[in-house]
Amino acid sequence: MSDKFFITTPIYYVNAKPHIGHAYTSIAADVASRYNRLLGKEVLFLTGTDEHGQKILLAAKQKNLDVKDFVDSIVVSFKDLWSKLDVSYDYFVRTTDPIHKKTVQHVIKKIYDQGDLYKGQYKGWYCTPCETFWPSAQLKDGKLCPDCDRPVEEVVEENYFFKLSKYQSWLIEYIQNNENFIRPVSRRNEILGFLKEPLEDLCVSRPKTRLGWGIEFPIGSDHVTYVWFDALINYISAIDYLNEGEKFKTFWPADFQLLGKDILRHHAVFWPIMLRALGLEQPKCIFAHGWWMQQGAKMSKSKTGAVDPLDVINQYGLDAFRYFLLREVTFGVDGTYSTEAFKIRYNSDLANDLGNLLNRTLAMIEKHFDSKVPSVTLKKESADDLIFEKFENIKNKFQNKMDELAFSEALILVWELINSANKYIEESKPWVLKKEGNAERLGNVMYNLTEVLRITAILISPFMPSTADKIWAQLGFSNSILESGITPAFKWGVTPKNLQVNKQQPLFPRVE
Ligand code: MSP
Repeated sequence: MSDKFFITTPIYYVNAKPHIGHAYTSIAADVASRYNRLLGKEVLFLTGTDEHGQKILLAAKQKNLDVKDFVDSIVVSFKDLWSKLDVSYDYFVRTTDPIHKKTVQHVIKKIYDQGDLYKGQYKGWYCTPCETFWPSAQLKDGKLCPDCDRPVEEVVEENYFFKLSKYQSWLIEYIQNNENFIRPVSRRNEILGFLKEPLEDLCVSRPKTRLGWGIEFPIGSDHVTYVWFDALINYISAIDYLNEGEKFKTFWPADFQLLGKDILRHHAVFWPIMLRALGLEQPKCIFAHGWWMQQGAKMSKSKTGAVDPLDVINQYGLDAFRYFLLREVTFGVDGTYSTEAFKIRYNSDLANDLGNLLNRTLAMIEKHFDSKVPSVTLKKESADDLIFEKFENIKNKFQNKMDELAFSEALILVWELINSANKYIEESKPWVLKKEGNAERLGNVMYNLTEVLRITAILISPFMPSTADKIWAQLGFSNSILESGITPAFKWGVTPKNLQVNKQQPLFPRVE
């Protein structure tokens, strides 16, 4: 197992405020990063902003602002959102960073010198919202962008082209030989299907007369770099590819590159070919997640009603939001966001299952054992199997699920343990044990419940960091979960006796 972990999110367009769709990719990357830190790995979590192109220029013009002032102001709102969502990125790249611009120009010169670029005429269509070129044959109804259904604009421009076609057969073979390169498998199949048709070479510049806001194309000074070509390079410019620096040597290739399925082709076709042309290794996995939908359509900035993550966290708390996003749908498929669904999960999983287990357990330890975790004789009774079976399940499966970004399935395993503990309370009837004066058995039951809570706190910490910390502190641990690491989550009997518990107000008060 490698002791390094490098994960990236797409870099976000700064034409408007972020919504749930953006929060989703970043929170998923955050959970994977926190989990890998818990494993003791050195983690690099990269995110940032995509600041050039026609769409951003247009947005700045509409606000009557200088474009750099405009992007600077939106970048602040992204950073602010990530901090409010506990998104623990290690590095924030901006495509207006001088080192990024230099790297892009270096890449262009390099591939030009090796004969992978040529000048030609582009005659076709352009979708500004997607910043994508489309040939006529691919348009929807002859006039709409096939990705976003919006009208496209006809363009005839002298541009530079990148010879994607030269690398097509290499790419097909690479994808076929590397089963986990593009995931989930439905997306891998989509790309293999797309590659059955001959690839058109990619236009990688725009004439300055049409678009002034971009990185100057280093060959001839009358073009800027096409925004997607510029943007994809962030994944290596941010780690000092330019100087082949330590960070680059340590972290490339990335372990996971996360993105939404709308930008799969850019990441699973253009990007691997760019890397190949540069003679660089491919990322280990390009993972495309699904969309959050609303009224049957993708939630997006241009539609009214896109959910603002800040509204949700102000009303229900951050950790409930993070939990909902990763528990509600399997990572990789589409999901529908609704307040109704959110409240159901909140009340059942968080308020009832987890919240009640914590409160009941701590209340009983407070009352019957003077707030000290009782010592355990570890004498097993058959009722204990309820819990041990689920614990074994976690030991065997949790890490695999997390390693493959199956977040929802990993959480299901934890909740099976939580619910087995709730059932255990009903079956072992601590109140009867108390009445009967069976202190030894009562102590064992309380100890086992404490163990479930301890294990739960560790395993949910990547998903709900502050909830996990609160449970940890209420159980009486004085170190941090990160210091503890993940190993004790897979051992039974680790909680020391006499730990002083400290019951607090419910973590998730029920919502109506
Ligand atoms: N700037 C490009 C990415 C360049 S990466 C080299 C871009 N930016 S974006 O701001 O439009 O989108 C960023 C991410 O948000 C994408 O992964 C996209 O899939 C995701 N989402 C935007 N809306 C979404 C939903 N409604 N649901 C889930 N994710 C979606 O594309």
